[in-house]
Parts: sequence; structure tokens; C-alpha cells
Amino acid sequence: MAVTPRLATADHKAETAMNVTEALETRMTCRAFLTTPVPEATVRAILTEAGRAPSGGNLQPWRVWALSGEALAALKGAITAKIAAGQISDGQTEYNIYPPDMGEPYLGRKFRAGEAMYAALGVAREDLGSRMREYVRNFELFDAPVGLIFAIDRGLAQGQWADLGMYMQSIMLLAREHGLHTAALESWALWHATVREALDIPPELMVFCAMAMGRRDETHPINQYRSDREPLEAFATFAGF
Ligand SMILES: Cc1cc2nc3c(=O)[nH]c(=O)nc-3n(C[C@H](O)[C@H](O)[C@H](O)COP(=O)(O)O)c2cc1C
Repeated sequence: MAVTPRLATADHKAETAMNVTEALETRMTCRAFLTTPVPEATVRAILTEAGRAPSGGNLQPWRVWALSGEALAALKGAITAKIAAGQISDGQTEYNIYPPDMGEPYLGRKFRAGEAMYAALGVAREDLGSRMREYVRNFELFDAPVGLIFAIDRGLAQGQWADLGMYMQSIMLLAREHGLHTAALESWALWHATVREALDIPPELMVFCAMAMGRRDETHPINQYRSDREPLEAFATFAGF
């Protein structure tokens, strides 16, 4: 059923203390959460409001499963039990997370991001055991009390994948407004079959990724790490100003 558009009224979010810039600047990929529960009403509000994200043709192609408590534990357990039994993934991913022949500058950026993250954890490059442990942490959702699974109709095109990304970013910014942090996790695409079975996701939908949501563990070393960004000149072209 269609939801009637709502105009921004004076009372709407008038109490908020965070503006968009602050939400953007304080958003980060949180990789250690407190287990403090997040009320269902908060998650509903965030997912609803994020639905104001734009989409080409107003297709609103996003699909999301919101899980907490026993439902989330069961989903995480389905993956971690397989890892404990020696399985590393469900095999071939349903979409290319990265292009198989990815070159520069992307390869270098990805490498440096990984190095910086492990440095923050004090994990050496050759310490494969600790790296494996951090891989598993993805599927424990870093202890977050809320897990979101995003899917998209596999018949849709690249444009709609961009729309889904905008929906996800809207969630991440709104989460900040509620004092929450997030982590988008495409590593979950490695377990698409397990996720599909656990949540009974219909075959016409493709599992894109997961997102952890909750309160940040302020004391954990991994959360002290901040990723860098290229300067504007590296990606923007201006003319005619
Ligand atoms: C769609 C998407 C999927 C991601 N998947 C993972 C993941 O599986 N595991 C992980 O540790 N980080 C993941 N990240 C986090 C990125 O590594 C991170 O956004 C990037 O390094 C920039 O850091 P920041 O988010 O802290 O600003 C993902 C980010 C996005 C947007």
C-alpha cells in the first residue's frame, strides 16, 4: 500500500541535535558494538524515514529484513556454525563484489584500507589466524543487536543498485541521529545461500549485503581507526563557476 508523502513540518525532527554534516562526519564503519538492544520502534522509524531516499522512476527497489534477538542469533549461528565446520563461504557469490580484474587506483586503496584496519587491531599481515578471526566477526555482526539484510530484485539494472545504495546511506545517517552506528557488510554476500535459506528469501531477490546497527563500543581499538579520503581534486572536475 502506498504511503502518503509527508511534508517536512516545523515539529518534524525539530528536537534533533544533529545536522546532516555531523551525521556524515561521524558515520564510520563500526566494527565493535555494545550488545545494548535497540527498540523495534527505532529501527522501524529509521527504515521508514530512509524510504524517502530517491530512486530512478521512484521504483524504490530496496528490500530489507530487520532482525534482532533470537531471529538474529539464528541467522548468525547458521553462518558461524558452517565456518566452525571448516566452510569458508557458500562458494561463488551471486554478483561481483569487486571486478575480478580490478586495477589501480582501486586495488591500492583497498589494500591500504585493509592494512590500516589490521594495524588498528594490532594484527600483523602474516597473522592469518587473527585475520580469520576478524573475518568471522563480520558474521557475528561485531556483536551488534540489530542486523539488516538488503536484497534487490535480480531483474533490475545497475541504476536500481545505486538506488539501494542511497537507501542504505540514508539508514546510516539516520542511525547517527538516533545515537547509533552502523557497518555495511558485503562480506555477507559470500553466504547468500545460507542467508536465503534462513530467511526464506524468494529466488527472484538477490542478497546484496548486511548491515550491523547498534551502539558503538567506544573503548575498542578498532573503533579508534578512521579511514582516509582522496582530496576533492582526485575525483571532481569543475567548470563554469
Ligand atoms: C556496501 C558496503 C559494504 C561493505 N562491506 C564491508 C565488509 O564486509 N566488512 C567490513 O569490514 N567493511 C565493509 N565495508 C566498510 C568499508 O570498508 C568502509 O566503508 C570504508 O573502508 C570506508 O570507511 P568508513 O566507512 O569507516 O568511512 C563496506 C562498506 C560498504 C559501503
